[in-house]
Amino acid sequence: MRRLTLPDSAAAGEGAIRHAPSAARNLEPIAAILAQYLPASGRVLELASGTGQHICAFAERFPALEWQPSDIDKAALASIAARIAHAPRANLAAPVALDACRPGWAAANGPFNAVCLSNLLHLISAPEAETLLAEAASALAPGGRFCLYGPFRRGGELVTEGDRAFDASLRAQDKAIGYKDIDDIAATLLRFGAVEIARPEMPAGNLMLIAERPIQA
Ligand SMILES: C[S@@+](CC[C@H](N)C(=O)[O-])C[C@H]1O[C@@H](n2cnc3c(N)ncnc32)[C@H](O)[C@@H]1O
Repeated sequence: MRRLTLPDSAAAGEGAIRHAPSAARNLEPIAAILAQYLPASGRVLELASGTGQHICAFAERFPALEWQPSDIDKAALASIAARIAHAPRANLAAPVALDACRPGWAAANGPFNAVCLSNLLHLISAPEAETLLAEAASALAPGGRFCLYGPFRRGGELVTEGDRAFDASLRAQDKAIGYKDIDDIAATLLRFGAVEIARPEMPAGNLMLIAERPIQA
C-alpha cells in the first residue's frame, strides 16, 4: 500500500476513530446522489471506506440496505470498527480487509446490489484502476449499480487550478498515479459489462459516475 501525503488527510480522533474534514464536506452531496441511484434493498459494498464517516452515515440514511465496509489499511479498518462499536446498527457489518486492486475479490465477496467507491482512483496506477473496475463490475448482481465519486480529468484535461496542483503533487510522489479520465473510466466499465447511466456534477469540480450491470446481459 502506498503512503501518500494528501491535503486534508484523516486525523486521529477519539481512540481509534479517525476523521477526515473532506469526508465530512462531501458526505451530504454524495448521499443526495445515492438516494437517487441506490437500489431499494440488498447488499452494498463500500470499497476504501477510510475513516468510516461515509458508510456509517449511509447505513443510517438508507436502513433498508445491508452495508459492508472495507479498506486495505489497518488504521482505517480500526477506525471503521470503532465508529461501528460507538453506534452499532443491524444493517452495518464489521469491516473487512479488502485490497480493491487485487484480482479475485469480486468472486470471493460478491455479488452485491451496489458497490460504492469515493476518492481512490487518483491514488492508484492505471493498471490497478483497471483491475479495480473489472472487479467492481463483476461484483454487481444483475441490475446492481457501481457508484463512483472523486476528482477526474475531463476530455484528458485537468479542469481547475486545484486539480492541476493536486495531480502534480500525486505524480511527484509516484509517477504511476494521478487523475484518471472520466471517459476512460466509463469505457473501461462498459468493457467489463457495466453501463453508465448518470454522471452528476458534484461540488468542487468533482464528479460521480453511476454504472449498472444490465438485468439481461
Ligand atoms: C483518500 S482516502 C478515501 C476514504 C473515503 N472513501 C473517503 O472518500 O473519505 C483513500 C482510502 O483508500 C484506501 N486504499 C488505498 N489503496 C487501497 C486498495 N488497494 N484497496 C482498498 N482500499 C485502499 C486507503 O486506505 C484510504 O482509506
